[in-house]
Amino acid sequence: MIDIHNHVLAGIDDGPQQWQHSIAMLEQAKAQGISHVVVTPHLHFGRFDNIQPVVAQSFARLQQAIREQQLDIHVAFASEVRIDSQIMAALSRDLIALFHGQGPERAILLELPHSHVPLGADKLITWLNRQGLTVVLPHPERNREIKAKPHLLARFKRLGCLIQVTAGSLLGDFGDDSEKLAVQWLEQGDVDLIASDAHSCERRPFRLAQARERSEQLVGKELAQRYTKENPWRLCQGLF
Ligand SMILES: [Fe+2]
Repeated sequence: MIDIHNHVLAGIDDGPQQWQHSIAMLEQAKAQGISHVVVTPHLHFGRFDNIQPVVAQSFARLQQAIREQQLDIHVAFASEVRIDSQIMAALSRDLIALFHGQGPERAILLELPHSHVPLGADKLITWLNRQGLTVVLPHPERNREIKAKPHLLARFKRLGCLIQVTAGSLLGDFGDDSEKLAVQWLEQGDVDLIASDAHSCERRPFRLAQARERSEQLVGKELAQRYTKENPWRLCQGLF
């Protein structure tokens, strides 16, 4: 499997604060059957200012730790970008770590606030599309406004967003409402990707293997593989 959303880098956001914990997380990922991990620290302007050079430097430290531990896992980096008008200027200065697909294909993991869908979100998504970027929407099933008005998902689908649900949502880790939505969207064929959004080994672990198992029960082996391997690979293959 390939995980395209997690917080493995140490001391850079609300993920682990020590490198030994980053390594423990990667060991957990490997034990789950994950071969490729794209680490995606938060870029949340004013809170976690993880612009591309900051992430690149931290990532080099991770690679060094992987070498020291002789850990056999493929890693790359992008970022999880909190929706903000500053994205436009940062992008034009190449300051955002993006996903690279095949050839020139690029994508951005664009996070909504947890509480609501901001006004103008659709305008920003349209602008990003015009820059040639595919927008991946992480965990809409955990957004409070979307939970109250699930039909809002269709707006994002119409804008061409890829929908990524969190592994833990399918397993009930984020409550009944999120689980119900994630399962419903999966069964309706609205989901494009499943990712861990792992933050630690204990409190927010990878759990992608368990989510894949649940997906197999819900939609069958072939689709479960598409959401955990083929679609993630399409998004990030240019990074490896
Ligand atoms: Fe995340």
